[in-house]
Amino acid sequence: MFLDLVKKRRSTRKYLSDPVPREMIEQCIEAATYAPTACNTQSWRFIVVEGDLKRELVEKSLGGFIVPNRFAVGAPVIVVIATDMNLVTHRIGGKLKGIDYHLIDAGIAGEHFVLQATELGLGTCWIGWFDKKAVKRLLGLPAGWDVPAMLTVGYPAEEQTEKSRKRIDEVVEFKGSEKQ
Ligand SMILES: Cc1cc2nc3c(=O)[nH]c(=O)nc-3n(C[C@H](O)[C@H](O)[C@H](O)COP(=O)(O)O)c2cc1C
Repeated sequence: MFLDLVKKRRSTRKYLSDPVPREMIEQCIEAATYAPTACNTQSWRFIVVEGDLKRELVEKSLGGFIVPNRFAVGAPVIVVIATDMNLVTHRIGGKLKGIDYHLIDAGIAGEHFVLQATELGLGTCWIGWFDKKAVKRLLGLPAGWDVPAMLTVGYPAEEQTEKSRKRIDEVVEFKGSEKQ
């Protein structure tokens, strides 16, 4: 059941050193490419970083005083989600409507990736606190590209604990319906 998969996903911050087969990463990326995007622009790139470059990425973008994110060095793979900000549709739409379409696109695609990874028995963690400039410089991203987030990926090294979530009635509002 889909809801079981969704509930199974947890942020994993401790990983085994076992390498992640490339086919698994490709399957996760395939799932990500089926995410909807504003105007179907599909303007993301998923940069799969491993080995020494991954260590450099962590050192340069996740070092500093935010020590908790250094856990990323223990993940065999880091996937950098990059999006093209040069698109006219996104620029005009963003200005007129005040909505950051590229961030929504990246978020949906990233979660598709993460849920597919969960189904494959992989652990992941969203990383949203990092030095964006350092990532762009290290990976040589072209001008006008943004990096909304990164994902750590690998086999979990520990059992996940129960997660706390708000109750449905705390987060939902039904309006205009007959039922009370
Ligand atoms: C946009 C975003 C950014 C996040 N950034 C970080 C981060 O920089 N470091 C980290 O350890 N976890 C990060 N997380 C993971 C959250 O802390 C985590 O999803 C939340 O605590 C709920 O736990 P769960 O994912 O296990 O359900 C981020 C999650 C999201 C969605």
